[in-house]
Amino acid sequence: MPLPWTGSLPLMLAPMQGLTNRGLRQVYGEHVKPDVLFTEFVRVRPGAAQPVAASDFTEATTAVPGIPLVVQVIGCADDGVVEATAELVAAGVQHINVNMGCPWGRMTSVLAGGGMFRAPETVAPMLRKLRKLVPGSLSVKTRTGIDDERQIFDVLPAFADSGIDFLVVHSRTVDQKYRGQANHALTAEIVEALGLPVIANGDVRSAEDARAVLAQTGAAGLMLGRGALADPHLFARIRGTAPTQPTSDQRKADLAALWRDILDHYVELFAGDAQVLAKFGSLVRHVDDPALKRWIKPMKKAKRVAQLREALGR
Ligand SMILES: Cc1cc2nc3c(=O)[nH]c(=O)nc-3n(C[C@H](O)[C@H](O)[C@H](O)COP(=O)(O)O)c2cc1C
Repeated sequence: MPLPWTGSLPLMLAPMQGLTNRGLRQVYGEHVKPDVLFTEFVRVRPGAAQPVAASDFTEATTAVPGIPLVVQVIGCADDGVVEATAELVAAGVQHINVNMGCPWGRMTSVLAGGGMFRAPETVAPMLRKLRKLVPGSLSVKTRTGIDDERQIFDVLPAFADSGIDFLVVHSRTVDQKYRGQANHALTAEIVEALGLPVIANGDVRSAEDARAVLAQTGAAGLMLGRGALADPHLFARIRGTAPTQPTSDQRKADLAALWRDILDHYVELFAGDAQVLAKFGSLVRHVDDPALKRWIKPMKKAKRVAQLREALGR
């Protein structure tokens, strides 16, 4: 089956709920060119006439020209995910990724997201059904277990036997949420054991981190999440086409340029100042760089879009 990338060492923008909507994807796609983009997770409504909600459907079918879009589904290991995938594929979606990592709320008390580790025997049957439907790549994005990071080794055979094309590993357990560090020594063991392309994810914040993770794990590529929010040009730094150690003034100028564009998209996509401010706020809150704190503070406190524009320098 076709992978969603060509060449070696693909750099992917991670799916991030509330953040990687089509507006942000468009701007990242135009200006920093990740090799692959992912949607936020698409929720599944089993048994509904339309298993994918209209807003999720629009997200899943809006790609940036020239950059493969992988649509991520999350749901119980039952026919809901299969029905939703059928609906998405009928609308032209090529690449599907199943979320087996989400650590939050309802997703983990049922057998969805990271909760699927509670019923590993359901994984292969679901993936086999999806394999028959998906014309492009089928992949899984996973954490390493619920409370034991070696649980992943119980499901690797299910991944290998059900015809997925690649696996994205965020080497933390579900219980860990975002505490501690991703365990890339474990990623290396998974790369070794699986025999399929593995994309390493977790705590890559600089070109140096990227080099270290690739050397340690032998992964086929990297997925960048929070690091790519704090420094969108991280893709170029890893590719060697932008300075690896930018000054804080440079990072501020880069962010300002990108954020102005994202804000324009958000004003078009979301209704009213309150929604735009909420969406934009969750983006700026992911930048924890002390050198940019004073610049970002008024954006966090803005009550109107006009105040955001002023803080961004126009
Ligand atoms: C705000 C936020 C939302 C996220 N939403 C999703 C999601 O929808 N699907 C998913 O698989 N992972 C989601 N993640 C996890 C990221 O894709 C990624 O695995 C994690 O942040 C670790 O990578 P990083 O250290 O590069 O950020 C989310 C992470 C954050 C911070």
